[in-house]
Amino acid sequence: MQNIKILAIESSCDETAAAVVVDGREVLSNVISSQIDIHTLYGGVVPEIASRKHIENINPVIEKALSDANLTLDDIDAIGVTYGPGLVGALLVGVAEAKAISFAKDIPLIGVHHIEGHICANYIDNKELEPPFICLVVSGGHTHLVVVKDYGEYEILGKTRDDAAGEAFDKVARAIGLGYPGGPKIDKVSVEGNPEAYTFPRAKITDSVYDFSFSGLKSAVLNQINGAQMKGEEINVADIAASFQKAVVDSLVTRAMTALEETGFKKFAIAGGVASNTAVRKAFTEECAKKNIEFYCPSKILCTDNAAMIGAAAYYEYEKGVRSDYHLNAIPNLKLGER
Ligand code: KG4
Ligand code: ZN
Repeated sequence: MQNIKILAIESSCDETAAAVVVDGREVLSNVISSQIDIHTLYGGVVPEIASRKHIENINPVIEKALSDANLTLDDIDAIGVTYGPGLVGALLVGVAEAKAISFAKDIPLIGVHHIEGHICANYIDNKELEPPFICLVVSGGHTHLVVVKDYGEYEILGKTRDDAAGEAFDKVARAIGLGYPGGPKIDKVSVEGNPEAYTFPRAKITDSVYDFSFSGLKSAVLNQINGAQMKGEEINVADIAASFQKAVVDSLVTRAMTALEETGFKKFAIAGGVASNTAVRKAFTEECAKKNIEFYCPSKILCTDNAAMIGAAAYYEYEKGVRSDYHLNAIPNLKLGER
């Protein structure tokens, strides 16, 4: 135990978050200020509003993270911050704040990749988990099947060719009148629906067994709704939601299980907002049990955007001696594994 205390900051989309994490795995505080209510008025995240809200929220959120941890900035050993991918204006708020604290307190600054943070959320809730393993990252902006070779070392096996899984949830939810944010609403309403009521397509990518595609599925749902409306038929929202969710789950499970079989890995984790989905968690728990694969997932609060996961990722970079300088900038399209 080294007792390295990292103050982590996350502001890549619509959550302003700060956390204090010890040695990458022990969370002393995890504060998340969500902007959902304001963006709901517009049916989705408005980047300019997100940046402004981050500016308002960031100092109180950091103060609360420190006071919840019973610490002051003088106790902090390093600052970790998300610098990409995400909304540029939103990212910049966290990056500028982190640089200011690092400079004022003369402590190391570590820029963290947001998706790496999602993967590392698994280390917090599964203390025994160590690389190598396969991780499926399913968020609002990404759908990646990744080999986690070591801490901070990734090989991307497959990714989405069009929409991310979370994006598909959000678009379908909007189309069936559930509104924003779509994922949790589809998750909830699906419980009352029949997942076999409609047969929606499971896209196959012929030149890569590990790549995903969700735009055809989204169009099929829209066509079903439009067709019903033209015939004056009522649509059953719960049945559509459950059938759509089943199609997403099937696509995710098929790719991941093929990857596990072909690579021979016996450990599998999920991460990102869609990993909090009840049907996704259930399907992988069952499939992995059948195939004797150890299955890991973070608690639901650590699946969606938070700063504790950034603190976990920052710790493993810190351990390797990675440090960012004051030229650290927001990189909206930062690739996983790039620095
Ligand atoms: O990881 P995240 O919080 O932010 C990004 O990095 O994008 O993921 C947000 C995405 C949204 O698309 C949201 O609808 C989806 O995750 N999501 C869910 C659930 N909770 C959040 N999708 C399905 N079921 C859920 N319970
Ligand atoms: Zn995220």
